[in-house]
Amino acid sequence: MSNASLHALPSADRPDVAERLRDALLAADFTADGLLDLLGAPAYAALARSETVPALRATRGDTPLQLLVRLFLLQQSVPRARVTGVLPVDDCLASGWLVPGDDGEVTAAVDVRPYGGPDGEDWFIVSDLGCAVGGAGGIGSKDEGVVLGVGGASTTLAGITVRTPVAAALDLGTGSGIQALHAAQHATRVTATDLNPRALHITALTLALSGAPAAELREGSLFEPVRADETYDLIVSNPPFVISPGARLTYRDGGMGGDDLCRTLVQEAGERLREGGFAQFLANWQHVEGEDWQDRLRSWVPRGCDAWIVQREVQDVTQYAELWLRDAGDHRSDPAEYRARYDAWLDEFETRKVKAVGFGWITLRRTGAAEPSITVEEWPHSVEQPLGDTVRAHFERVDYLRAHDDAALLAAHFRLAGEIVQEQVGLPGAEDPEHVVLRQNRGMRRATKVDTVGAGFAGVCDGTLSAGRILDAIAQLVGEDPVSLRDRTPAQIRLLVELGFLEPTTG
Ligand SMILES: C[S@@+](CC[C@H](N)C(=O)[O-])C[C@H]1O[C@@H](n2cnc3c(N)ncnc32)[C@H](O)[C@@H]1O
Repeated sequence: MSNASLHALPSADRPDVAERLRDALLAADFTADGLLDLLGAPAYAALARSETVPALRATRGDTPLQLLVRLFLLQQSVPRARVTGVLPVDDCLASGWLVPGDDGEVTAAVDVRPYGGPDGEDWFIVSDLGCAVGGAGGIGSKDEGVVLGVGGASTTLAGITVRTPVAAALDLGTGSGIQALHAAQHATRVTATDLNPRALHITALTLALSGAPAAELREGSLFEPVRADETYDLIVSNPPFVISPGARLTYRDGGMGGDDLCRTLVQEAGERLREGGFAQFLANWQHVEGEDWQDRLRSWVPRGCDAWIVQREVQDVTQYAELWLRDAGDHRSDPAEYRARYDAWLDEFETRKVKAVGFGWITLRRTGAAEPSITVEEWPHSVEQPLGDTVRAHFERVDYLRAHDDAALLAAHFRLAGEIVQEQVGLPGAEDPEHVVLRQNRGMRRATKVDTVGAGFAGVCDGTLSAGRILDAIAQLVGEDPVSLRDRTPAQIRLLVELGFLEPTTG
């Protein structure tokens, strides 16, 4: 792997310097909140789009925070004398965080981005220069080994990860170390792997600078660095999922054909999971002509695992090619070169009969169940992150439904989940709605159609009466035979439980 044009990294063997640097950054309010206050929302948001001009304008003064933003986020040199009282400059120069420049100026060797943890922690994510914010359209280097900071995919995965306390977690393809940093809060032991040794070095810096325990760092592809007898309670990976005509950038191009890297990752995760353990991935998958995309994904799920797969977005092949050409900054290259690259993407898709690409989340949970539950669904609507608890609850409901046949459901008691409203859909002025929708304003923000019995049933579920008793009362009210109502309604109750609209109670 070539790192020819990349900057030398700070030493990962000086945790004492990382700690002093961390104290100095915090003292200057170099935090996510501090940054937002300083830059204001528009300049802050522009940075996420790789646009630095508004932030440069907001940091023209000489306050400690302005100096630090220029140094660590905007790749500007600053006079050494100005940062002497702000940073442990000698230590930072000796251990390589800072680099001496011309005329008594210093520059940073890496980007450092303040990043707020879920419980208000002030963390720092280290990445290669020019890579802290925004997509790689603005990356400072096109070297194949460049290590990016936090992107939308990173925070999505961090948000959907189940955060129960566990003994052992694995972050596969750790990059800047963001997932390992999150895992270090609830896993006793964290192993972080990457094909790119530079990423492992940067992960060590991210953890040290954030004051997190060190992770076990291992170099290698996919599960290669994991010994055959090692298993984990949690595996997370935001892999290089891009389906591209040939590997170029290690952070995104997996180097295996089509969606093979994601498939391999999912298939091989099963035997690395402990009983009850979760594996959570972001992935891209091909929509191939003549094939059902859901069947394709179902076939990836390893034996012994339940799975919940959510397709969040689908792009046709032209949108997809353009997205990643822009991500690499190719649209700023020579037009003929750009056209040739674009053509190569479309050639690749044509050869593979790919018409579109799906983006989404894959969660596996290892279970001893004889009949695994595999849910593959499309949910492109907005959701309420973090979803870790929602993901955990999904699998708890799967267990519940597996253990309860229709008779058991009728004997059970349910409560309507929180923040659910009923919407009636139909023509204006019509006496009866065409259909009724239940909508939940939490978590996945689900909506589902129900019939009037389903809506009435959900409305009275407060845990007091069994489902069967409620149905008997509804039957009496609407003049329907209670036996036939008890016969036909469990399927609807099952769906409402599966989607989280109804919660079983012990009452
Ligand atoms: C999209 S980045 C994710 C980085 C980070 N985990 C995050 O969530 O932001 C993918 C990472 O996987 C690494 N990688 C690429 N190919 C790999 C492979 N075959 N096995 C393991 N890691 C790989 C890349 O070096 C990169 O650090």
